[in-house]
Amino acid sequence: MEKIKDALAKAKVEHAETRLSTKFSSPTVVMQQEAKGFSNTENELGAINYLDTPVIKLDSAHLEKNRIVAQSKSDTNSYSFDSLRTQILQKMEENNWRTIAVVSPTPQSGKTLVSINLAISIAHQPQKTAILVDFDLRRPKVAAYLGIHTEKSMNDYLQDKAPLKDIIVNPGIDRLVIAPTMKPVSNSAETLSSNKVTNLIAELRDRYDSRIVIFDCPPVLNSDDAMVLLPQVDCILLVIGNGMSTQSEIEETLHHLPKENLLGVVFNKAEIESKNYYY
Ligand SMILES: Nc1ncnc2c1ncn2[C@@H]1O[C@H](COP(=O)(O)OP(=O)(O)OP(=O)(O)O)[C@@H](O)[C@H]1O
Ligand SMILES: [Mg+2]
Repeated sequence: MEKIKDALAKAKVEHAETRLSTKFSSPTVVMQQEAKGFSNTENELGAINYLDTPVIKLDSAHLEKNRIVAQSKSDTNSYSFDSLRTQILQKMEENNWRTIAVVSPTPQSGKTLVSINLAISIAHQPQKTAILVDFDLRRPKVAAYLGIHTEKSMNDYLQDKAPLKDIIVNPGIDRLVIAPTMKPVSNSAETLSSNKVTNLIAELRDRYDSRIVIFDCPPVLNSDDAMVLLPQVDCILLVIGNGMSTQSEIEETLHHLPKENLLGVVFNKAEIESKNYYY
């Protein structure tokens, strides 16, 4: 943890810390600054019509197996994500940010897990809606983690074979929709820099004031994909998996990220023993 602080300090990221705990890890959230209260004046929820959106009921055993906990109020781990959610929403509200990219330096840090749990937790806020978009076009995992399979997905949208409304599903949770990617997309960096994706991000951001858009992204250091996406989103949540990235990888990543858009850092998998433990 000290090494992460060093890396953050070197990157001149000012922060306040909040510790969270879950039984499967102790993610630590390092926010850019103390957040203040947020208003809940937006009230366009009546305009959001879920009737046209197919509902896919999630299997609670599958979710639990995949560490998706935010939907379960009886699971104390969900409190961690509610706390993360509250801090994130406060900071986003202050800055009028609505789109958030979840990234990490290297693979397997917990981005997809954090993205899904965060999206569910945001949707639990009555004054917010959330859409989770699987933009890890190389290794899409959102659908598999949630246990959903859709005929039409982001793959079809990107190939002009389906409109946005036909690829979105509601996972049986109010105010949450998912845009899944069912299989890897070739030329992913080119796709993510295309006009189609740029327009999609703008459309998702601007349609409803109350909507938070979460993009589950690929790791920053393994391809150009995340770097292509980051300038197109309002803010960035950096997930650092314990033992998954070296200090120099964290520093290199922080060097790439626009500091003014760095929402915070989630230190994930804190209690997991790892031979690669570096910090
Ligand atoms: N806090 C945690 N405690 C225990 N296991 C975790 C935790 N976070 C993630 N994992 C596990 O680590 C693995 C990787 O998680 P996840 O797929 O969310 O990471 P990722 O950063 O999205 O990976 P990739 O870069 O491959 O997309 C999964 O098996 C997940 O269940
Ligand atoms: Mg992932």
